[in-house]
Amino acid sequence: MNARKPEPAVIATWKFGKAAAEAAGEVLRAGGRALDAVEAGINVVELDPKVTSVGYGGRPNAEGIVELDAAIMDGPSHNAGAVAALRNIRRPISVARKVMEQTPHVMLADDGALRFAVLQGFPEEELLTPQSRLHWEEWRLKAGTTHDTIGLVALDADGNLAAGCSTSGLAYKLPGRVGDSPIIGSGLYVDNDVGGAAATGVGEEIMKFCAGFLVVEFMRSGCAPDEACRRTIARILAKTPANKDITMALIALSRDGQFGAASTRPEFPHAVWTPAGVQMRGSAES
Ligand code: GLY
Repeated sequence: MNARKPEPAVIATWKFGKAAAEAAGEVLRAGGRALDAVEAGINVVELDPKVTSVGYGGRPNAEGIVELDAAIMDGPSHNAGAVAALRNIRRPISVARKVMEQTPHVMLADDGALRFAVLQGFPEEELLTPQSRLHWEEWRLKAGTTHDTIGLVALDADGNLAAGCSTSGLAYKLPGRVGDSPIIGSGLYVDNDVGGAAATGVGEEIMKFCAGFLVVEFMRSGCAPDEACRRTIARILAKTPANKDITMALIALSRDGQFGAASTRPEFPHAVWTPAGVQMRGSAES
């Protein structure tokens, strides 16, 4: 049980996280739950075809098919839901929430995830936009490597936390490849007594270190969220120094509303929301 009610707060990855944080913040401003805020915020990015690493308009796999990963975790119940390699559904975070709330399972993958989504009433739609099809056709000439996940952590006025991730994963990946984002403890983690965290970047590396869980555990041992994120990156680089050359980034929000972030890159734009408004941090444009 939380002793006092903190100010609601949201943190979200990347520049596109600003719109997500604003949408999540509106849910919290209206007195909504952190879980609803996470879903609403992430839906904004999933549905935006200009974002080429998440949801509709995301980069496809090597065969030209968009395969999406997403997960959501609820602090008060410590429950979670996830989908992996989900095709033809624009809002995978909402399907992940249905997995959490409507099944005894945590993760559904591939065709099973699609059939479940359809049964839950999600329309089947083409996810490849003309633009992403064009890029896929050019891929053999110039490979892209986008895997900028929308990760979002929210804290509501009741002091409850939730976190979510959604991504189309590594561009032009092998069909069936699943990254860190739908894996609880890797792409995201929440402990309602401590805080929440989410990851973005090369999932193959993030998942080997259970990065989301590690950030929360560092917070549990007394680190502020910024320090917890930095220590997690340092732990990864100590074991695998070559990872300094790839993108990995983390966001965190403590149960008392402190924000934190760290990255292997000098710049990591991310958005933070409080009832006073939304701000970009971590980049030249901050
Ligand atoms: N972090 C997203 C991915 O690697 O799929």
